[in-house]
Amino acid sequence: MDETESTPAAASAPPLPPVMVAVFNQKGGVAKTTTACNLAVSLTAFGYRVLLVDLDTQGNATASFGVAPLPTEGAFEVITGRADIADVALDTAYEGLWLLPATQSLRDNDHLLTPSGRRRGLLEARLAGTGVDIVVVDCPPSLAAATSTALASATAVLMPVHPDPFAHDGLVNTWYEICRVRETVNYQLGVAGILLTMTEPDPTGADVARVIRAEFGDQVLDVEIPAKVKVAEAAHLGLPVTVLDPDGPAGLSYVEATREMLALLARQNRHWAHLPQAASLETALERLREWRATLHADLLNRLPVDPEPTETRSRATADRRAMPPTASAAGPTVPQRPWWRAVTLNQVILLTATFVAGMAVEALVEFLGQMTR
Ligand SMILES: Nc1ncnc2c1ncn2[C@@H]1O[C@H](COP(=O)(O)OP(=O)(O)O)[C@@H](O)[C@H]1O
Ligand SMILES: [Mg+2]
Repeated sequence: MDETESTPAAASAPPLPPVMVAVFNQKGGVAKTTTACNLAVSLTAFGYRVLLVDLDTQGNATASFGVAPLPTEGAFEVITGRADIADVALDTAYEGLWLLPATQSLRDNDHLLTPSGRRRGLLEARLAGTGVDIVVVDCPPSLAAATSTALASATAVLMPVHPDPFAHDGLVNTWYEICRVRETVNYQLGVAGILLTMTEPDPTGADVARVIRAEFGDQVLDVEIPAKVKVAEAAHLGLPVTVLDPDGPAGLSYVEATREMLALLARQNRHWAHLPQAASLETALERLREWRATLHADLLNRLPVDPEPTETRSRATADRRAMPPTASAAGPTVPQRPWWRAVTLNQVILLTATFVAGMAVEALVEFLGQMTR
């Protein structure tokens, strides 16, 4: 985050605490990181100034923005007061979105985060005055101290749920934990929605989704994120699917889910009053399409160009192997062995056998000659 006019820190926005959405589910592999990254980019496309905080020690959200290896200063240092957010938050390719990366120290020192009693509002306090509108936190799949720190400050929790046979139990446990945090540490913690992710048209998944919708009612967002190969393809290219394919089924679903989440939180009408009005869906999509046009083209330009087709290249390699090495290419020459050392046992046996066979033929010819005389 440069300390220039365009940064949140130097912006003229009043120093209100940002709205903070923690993306959390105790289960791993339910698309928390994918959701956090796509939500952060979509919110930016809707016109908000957004900070994505990577609190997962795996650092997948950080890597998703092309930051590798993990930097030495990031979320852990800011939470523990060892670094200032303005110094360690990183600019991203999306104007209006900053990243507070995960660091190796977060992995090694989770236990050093503040004891639970004093976590209330800690992250919020650290982020106050940055001028961002919304903070999106990617939480680890556990109740690590990092998760408790996020929940203790969050305005609301967004829970991605992959409707597999164990999803219901995982969601109930996560819900229980949220209720516990609300009763003990953060009385204002709201629900930004339960988001069904990686949905497929199979009967089991549909059944689990039905049960979750029946039990959790309108806390479950109407929009579901379908399982699509494009999501993995986007991750491979280092782009959120909302940018790689904003009009495709997964990309568009994330943009619509973001809009639905904003509406749900606005209805709760607690922390959202001071936020600017979101841009329209069409404006957000237009912005994503523009990012796609510039970033995707840029990415393709940076991919290494294969100078020759594979077939030609492998043939050339074979040709090179068949050629005798030149003195310069081969380095020091290998001393030649004397001819007798080059003769193998097999060759000796073959020679002997040929010799014996020759003698036998000669003897046979002589015998036949005597017979005919
Ligand atoms: N809608 C989707 N369709 C297909 N694959 C997805 C989708 N969402 C997430 N994934 C893939 O599922 C895997 C787990 O997602 P991730 O966001 O890392 O989960 P978590 O953070 O909960 O562990 C990743 O490989 C990701 O690319
Ligand atoms: Mg993750």
